[in-house]
Amino acid sequence: MNVERFPATTRILHWLIAALVLVTWPLGMVIKFVKNEVSLDFYMIHESLGFLVLWLMLLRVGNRLLTRAPAEDGPRLERIAAASVHGLFYLFLIIMPLSGFLATNAHGFPFSWFGVLPIWSPIGKSPDIAWTLSGIHLASAWILAVLFVLHMGAVLMHHVIRRDFTLYRIL
Ligand code: HEM
Ligand code: HEM
Repeated sequence: MNVERFPATTRILHWLIAALVLVTWPLGMVIKFVKNEVSLDFYMIHESLGFLVLWLMLLRVGNRLLTRAPAEDGPRLERIAAASVHGLFYLFLIIMPLSGFLATNAHGFPFSWFGVLPIWSPIGKSPDIAWTLSGIHLASAWILAVLFVLHMGAVLMHHVIRRDFTLYRIL
């Protein structure tokens, strides 16, 4: 099998961020259903893992600009669809943690990474924009879910139906 793979840095960042997002997203969704005694811990873990995604995504943008992705083949329409989903992933994986971070500060809860590293915020308590930021965070969560379903659909299409080597490009 001769497959041109993504550079190692891209592959490592892909799986690290995928793992973090697949934990952070459900954690965010369950917070409002957990008992009060533990909800602050859930927030802390959710926010701290999500904040890590922000920094890893900035690294990933740099990595994407500095490295060369393997050549793509397939019909033009498919290449456009893949590039759109991947591009929107990049965008919303930055909007997601950023809106959460600004929302928590705007609601009057400054964020400290795992409770040990207070993170400076450009905004303090701001009730007038707090719910807008929360709304952006919630909408982005569902946009990411849709992108994830499309991404998994593409993986299945390549791997199970066409049985090509697309999956190996990122392994
Ligand atoms: C990739 C990163 C992240 C993902 C996938 C994510 C996902 C989610 C999801 C699915 C929810 C539940 C939907 C809702 O109730 O609005 C949520 C809620 C929440 N998240 Fe995140 N989140 C991320 C990063 C962050 C960060 C970095 C912070 C803060 C530092 C944060 C703070 C919050 C807060 C405070 C809520 C409660 C609802 C609100 O006020 O918006 N999130 N998150
Ligand atoms: C939340 C989880 C995930 C996110 C956010 C994500 C995001 C991305 C992005 C942005 C790319 C484009 C490569 C780049 O420029 O960085 C990519 C490529 C890829 N991903 Fe994911 N991914 C996730 C999970 C998965 C999973 C679970 C699988 C497999 C089971 C997978 C399989 C692939 C494959 C095969 C490619 C290469 C596509 C190509 O050759 O052009 N991804 N992913």
